Amino acid sequence: MDNTCIFIFNLMIVFMTLYYYRFSTAQDSVSLSTDQHALEAIKAQISVDPSGVLSKNWSTKTSVCNWKGVTCGSQSRTQRVISLDLSYMGLVGTISPHIANLSFLSLLNLTNNSFYGPIPPEIAQLRHMEKVYMGGNYLTGRLPLWYFNNMPKLEILYLNENNLTGTLSPYFLNNMTSLKTLRLNDNSLQGYIPKEIGNGSCLHDFHVNDNQLTGVVPPALFNLSCIRKIELSGNRLSGSLPDDMCNDQLGKLRLLFISHNAFTGPIPSSINKCQQLRYMSMSFNNFSGIIPREIGNLTLLKELYLGDNDLQGMVYKLI
Ligand SMILES: *[C@@H]1O[C@H](CO)[C@@H](O)[C@H](O)[C@H]1NC(C)=O
Ligand SMILES: *[C@@H]1O[C@H](CO)[C@@H](O)[C@H](O)[C@H]1NC(C)=O
Ligand SMILES: *[C@@H]1O[C@H](CO)[C@@H](O)[C@H](O)[C@H]1NC(C)=O
Ligand SMILES: *[C@@H]1O[C@H](CO)[C@@H](O)[C@H](O)[C@H]1NC(C)=O
Ligand SMILES: *[C@@H]1O[C@H](CO)[C@@H](O)[C@H](O)[C@H]1NC(C)=O
Ligand SMILES: *[C@@H]1O[C@H](CO)[C@@H](O)[C@H](O)[C@H]1NC(C)=O
Ligand SMILES: *[C@@H]1O[C@H](CO)[C@@H](O)[C@H](O)[C@H]1NC(C)=O
Ligand SMILES: *[C@@H]1O[C@H](CO)[C@@H](O)[C@H](O)[C@H]1NC(C)=O
Ligand SMILES: *[C@@H]1O[C@H](CO)[C@@H](O)[C@H](O)[C@H]1NC(C)=O
Ligand SMILES: *[C@@H]1O[C@H](CO)[C@@H](O)[C@H](O)[C@H]1NC(C)=O
Repeated sequence: MDNTCIFIFNLMIVFMTLYYYRFSTAQDSVSLSTDQHALEAIKAQISVDPSGVLSKNWSTKTSVCNWKGVTCGSQSRTQRVISLDLSYMGLVGTISPHIANLSFLSLLNLTNNSFYGPIPPEIAQLRHMEKVYMGGNYLTGRLPLWYFNNMPKLEILYLNENNLTGTLSPYFLNNMTSLKTLRLNDNSLQGYIPKEIGNGSCLHDFHVNDNQLTGVVPPALFNLSCIRKIELSGNRLSGSLPDDMCNDQLGKLRLLFISHNAFTGPIPSSINKCQQLRYMSMSFNNFSGIIPREIGNLTLLKELYLGDNDLQGMVYKLI
């Protein structure tokens, strides 16, 4: 009787192991086939593929993990697509909403193709996303920054050189606590830069040049603790630079491009506290007064543009 018991027990273990094995492999292939269907749906919305990458290379005869531009990683026992890089392929098409089924995607690179139409809202479901590059396409619609608000690991967001409209909403960075680089340049954005900009984030690079932004630039922008590059050129921004510019906070600033706007007032002499500044352009504005001597004390400065303002004086190099 003891023996029978042990036998039944062993049999149960064998069945359980078999069941577990079957279950887990079935789940693996289901997950990867979800990714495959999503990639096929993405491909189906691309009408021009000049180098034939998708038509030739994306063959159902091989695993999607061998497809060009696709990278898989192992996520919780299963293999899933983690990266999709279709940059510089000359593709023409719209972005399929089924992209949202690539649940483990952390990098998406669509740079320099001809994707047009809106960014699908479903993209907001991609909670593992870390890097999104969509620059250099023909994307239209209102700037959909809130789609990216639910991506807690998002570090890099490039939506530059598209045809996006709309404004920067005040709270758009509230949840983007990991965001380091934001490029929205060369679109058709309007409205002002909200004073809440970057509150609670550690934004390094902020590029909104060549849009149609208006209004006074909030002093808070120049006070962000991690900021290194500020690119505001080619808008209709006004107001003056804060007197206490570079007091502590802007210590890391390397690049300040604010040319081709309507800035007024003097260049604050506290600029010499921005000791990391390498590139600075303030030309084509309405800055006035004497060029502060202290500019010459920026020892790392490589390029300085002050032309086409109402400034007087000279730039002295102190060293
Ligand atoms: C993506 O997932 C949704 C919901 O599970 C499903 O309805 C849709 O068919 C999927 N798309 C693809 C291409 O598998
Ligand atoms: C697709 O491209 C990848 C990477 O270039 C290559 O390793 C693979 O063999 C190609 N597959 C086919 C079916 O051409
Ligand atoms: C993605 O696109 C950017 C340009 O927007 C390019 O410089 C970069 O090398 C690409 N990165 C990856 C990881 O594919
Ligand atoms: C983007 O692609 C076009 C052709 O599609 C090419 O002419 C252009 O130089 C590319 N831009 C960059 C920055 O590589
Ligand atoms: C921030 O994230 C939380 C939780 O994911 C969400 O409920 C909230 O709506 C988000 N806030 C914004 C401004 O999107
Ligand atoms: C995109 O914007 C450019 C420059 O503003 C414009 O010439 C072009 O017609 C626009 N394209 C689309 C598809 O809206
Ligand atoms: C910045 O965030 C803090 C707390 O997160 C909040 O108390 C403060 O009002 C915010 N400032 C602005 C200008 O939104
Ligand atoms: C800049 O930061 C300092 C120190 O955190 C703070 O005292 C000051 O009020 C801030 N100024 C602005 C305009 O946000
Ligand atoms: C520059 O300032 C002067 C004097 O304040 C004003 O007359 C002029 O219209 C301003 N120019 C621009 C381009 O804002
Ligand atoms: C130049 O910068 C150094 C280091 O920050 C500082 O000690 C010195 O006083 C500055 N000189 C002038 C003229 O601003």
